[in-house]
Amino acid sequence: MNSRQLLLFVLLLAVPVSAEPIVYPYLQNPTQHGVDLYWVDTNPNPVEVTWLKMKTASRSIPAPELRFQEQEEKEFPQVRSSATRFLHRVSLTGLSPSQEVEYMVHFPERPFRERFKALPTERSKVRLIAYADSETEPESTGKLAKWGTREQPDRKYLIDQTTGYRENLKTIRERQPNAILIAGDLVESGGEQRDWDEFWDQNKMIAGAIPLLPAPGNHEYWAGPRHGRYSKSGSRWAIDKYRTYFHPVGKERGSHYYRKDIGPATLLSLDSGDGLPHGGSGDSNHFLEAAGDFAPDYHPGSEQWNWLEKELGEAQRAGQFTIVMFHHCPYSSGTHGSEPGTGEGKDEQSGQPLRALTPLLMRYGVDLVLSGHDEMFERSEVEGFEITADGRQQKHIVQVYDVGIGGDGLRDPERNNEYSKFLAFHHSPEQWHLDQIVSGGRHYGHLEIDVEPTENGWKATLNPVYILPIKEGADWSFERRLYSDSLVIYQKH
Ligand SMILES: [Fe+2]
Ligand SMILES: [Fe+2]
Repeated sequence: MNSRQLLLFVLLLAVPVSAEPIVYPYLQNPTQHGVDLYWVDTNPNPVEVTWLKMKTASRSIPAPELRFQEQEEKEFPQVRSSATRFLHRVSLTGLSPSQEVEYMVHFPERPFRERFKALPTERSKVRLIAYADSETEPESTGKLAKWGTREQPDRKYLIDQTTGYRENLKTIRERQPNAILIAGDLVESGGEQRDWDEFWDQNKMIAGAIPLLPAPGNHEYWAGPRHGRYSKSGSRWAIDKYRTYFHPVGKERGSHYYRKDIGPATLLSLDSGDGLPHGGSGDSNHFLEAAGDFAPDYHPGSEQWNWLEKELGEAQRAGQFTIVMFHHCPYSSGTHGSEPGTGEGKDEQSGQPLRALTPLLMRYGVDLVLSGHDEMFERSEVEGFEITADGRQQKHIVQVYDVGIGGDGLRDPERNNEYSKFLAFHHSPEQWHLDQIVSGGRHYGHLEIDVEPTENGWKATLNPVYILPIKEGADWSFERRLYSDSLVIYQKH
């Protein structure tokens, strides 16, 4: 071995190569003609990806945002190597609308093989599945959510949060949606790398086949209880991880807000983390002042508002089924349904300031608002008037959902919500046979959204889904069930 070969040998040894990637390949930026594939590894070397008759090698960039905090490493010495992580990216191109392809990532140890489907044209039917508040963390394993009743206020849910989320994801995968919409609070502590590693570990069964399209929640700005909480530096550290992972529209760094057209549906995803004035009654995260320096404002006249208005106008003219997604549910029976502020009947993390968006959503005839934060299954209706693209005024209803039942809390209502039309807690009582719950009640789940073109418009079917745990001896099995609040909306042009 000459000195050059020796140097190369030593360099190769210096790069720790694990048998498995830290984050398995996952899809971003789906279009009618392709998708971007990402993964995270400690190995920076390019890896070949093959699909159809094409092949290309990944490009990697160091991702220092994805390191553990010093405190994490001290407290949890078992965390994975803190060696530099690299974000790999490959664009899979050359597809036709709706084309299904198999791809293979040729990792040296074990190739990764998966299938995905390009987005369909505007004149095809699509399925989307939405949830929020998965709030993953290693501590979710063995942790049962509160599931109180009036008689048993301290009752706990039947299965732990990790199992609940996993079974939810399994069901979603079986339903083969075109995309998964996550309305924030993906992880428990956005600033803790352990919690993100847990998120991707849970999602490896699905994220390589179906693109995840998220909106940031307050937990993506939450550095963690021991790591700076909502301090300016803590929130920055946390949201930087989120933006490193997600590239829903193919930008170099993840967007706080973006538009994605999926068949006859248009998704407009927002960042609701910063109301104005800071700490005042208009702040969606009352006292979450730190985020104000870099979370985009959403109030009238702000860049995000102006962007949203322009996109809403375009979606309305195109006659699309229009979805606006953001984290803080503006109409809710839950704890965050209260007025913003501190003290009796007020909430520091209120969703009410997001009502500032309602006139704009109404004006452009938004069909569906997807949000979370209150960790309940609730649908609210807000009535008003749309101004159509040709200037007519017509009655309109915006359907507002809290789908925050991804895999964390299963909360009780705490207040009256005059807009509420369906709340699992009230409208789907638990039915038991002996010691087995046989239907109803609060469970983990999601909203399934089917949109199909009709001769002169579209038809949208919204089905609230819950995952019922069934005890079988010492084990559990799970069944997909629907709450009796299926909703069909038609639009004629
Ligand atoms: Fe949450
Ligand atoms: Fe939240």
